[in-house]
Amino acid sequence: MLRRNSILIFLCLIALFFNIEGFASEKKKKKIQPLPAVPVPENNPMTQEKIELGKKLFFDRRLSGDGTTSCASCHDPEKAFTDASEISLSYPTTRNFRNAPTLMNSAYAKHLFWDGRAKTLEEQAEFPIMSPFEMNQNLDFVEEEIRIVPEYREAFKRIFGQDVNIKLIAKAIAAFERTLISKNAPIDRYLKGDKNALSSEAKKGLEIFTGKGKCIDCHYGYYLSDQEFHALMVPENPKYANEDKFIVTRRYVAKINKYPDYMNIKEDLGRYFKTKKQKDYKAFKTPTLREVAKTAPYMHNGIFKSLDEVIDFFNKGGGEGNKVLKPLNLTEEEKKVLKTFLVEALSGEDLKIKPPDIP
Ligand code: HEC
Ligand code: HEC
Repeated sequence: MLRRNSILIFLCLIALFFNIEGFASEKKKKKIQPLPAVPVPENNPMTQEKIELGKKLFFDRRLSGDGTTSCASCHDPEKAFTDASEISLSYPTTRNFRNAPTLMNSAYAKHLFWDGRAKTLEEQAEFPIMSPFEMNQNLDFVEEEIRIVPEYREAFKRIFGQDVNIKLIAKAIAAFERTLISKNAPIDRYLKGDKNALSSEAKKGLEIFTGKGKCIDCHYGYYLSDQEFHALMVPENPKYANEDKFIVTRRYVAKINKYPDYMNIKEDLGRYFKTKKQKDYKAFKTPTLREVAKTAPYMHNGIFKSLDEVIDFFNKGGGEGNKVLKPLNLTEEEKKVLKTFLVEALSGEDLKIKPPDIP
């Protein structure tokens, strides 16, 4: 008995040792990396024809119940695939309750949505179509609306060898989304050896980002995100605190996530809605910072209008009661160069994507 226990303790110690080691090397490893080639799932290879079909569907208002809204309404190529609103646009007569993230580089995301409730772009695409406060469309119905269009029907047959269905609609849209990738961002050129790709001010900002500012703790790798969730305690947006339509949407989301006290909910609980784990209480996904200069307003509820406001938020140690951030004591000069880094280094060339002709 004693011997079995000591073997067990020994095994635990080994496990602990490797865990700490793993953690330490993980910490050491944190750095920004250039964008690798886009990951493409085996079951949805990209072809030019599929991308073109996905682009049409992305811009097609048939995907919404009343024919007013396409994916591009809220993810507008002219606005870096956001809608530039604090709280995103909404299905007519309803109100959205979160900010629309950019779709630039979302091909690299391990979790989609602020609360990470979808894992792949294919899976994600069905959510906004069904959502009563986004496109409010019925999935069986939209299949028929697409299938009745001969040009679409023939394209699906050619590309997938099958008739239109919602899974294939999602696949085509996902293939298009995988083309929305930052091109030639100065940070990538810099990391690949072009030391002149960043101005001296941006280089100083990079030092703050990876040093005193501690941004690198969560914004690292090629996606500039740890792909995790953190409760920074970003304040609720007071503008919407008493707006009925906003309250309705938040209650609805809490209710469908089986949150018992949904009638009294006063905050967006973020990832907690999905996992019900205390660590996820008010935790949101670390967003990518690529293209961040073009994606204002910021945070899951769009409460900050500018990068200056975001930097001030981190500088004062985040929101009230958070357990992850500490005050940074950045000087005005340090804040300025940090912003220069975010704006200058992380912005790729603008993608020129024009709305296609819809059949
Ligand atoms: C009415 C506005 C609206 C429409 C229409 C819309 N979206 Fe979104 N989109 C949002 C909002 C808001 C979020 C964030 C919601 C959340 O996290 O809970 C989002 C999130 C996403 C994300 C996750 C991005 C990330 O980094 O986590 C993807 C991908 C996406 N939308 C693609 C689409 C596609 C494809 C369509 C069309 C089928 C679409 N959206 C239609 C508003 C919209
Ligand atoms: C503990 C992890 C963590 C650290 C450290 C951190 N961030 Fe973040 N960052 C996040 C999370 C999580 C969000 C989203 C929060 C939300 O919406 O509630 C975010 C959001 C942002 C946004 C908004 C992006 C958008 O698209 O809305 C910017 C800009 C940003 N961070 C920059 C920085 C900078 C600059 C630093 C360093 C001064 C930093 N972050 C440090 C986790 C972190």
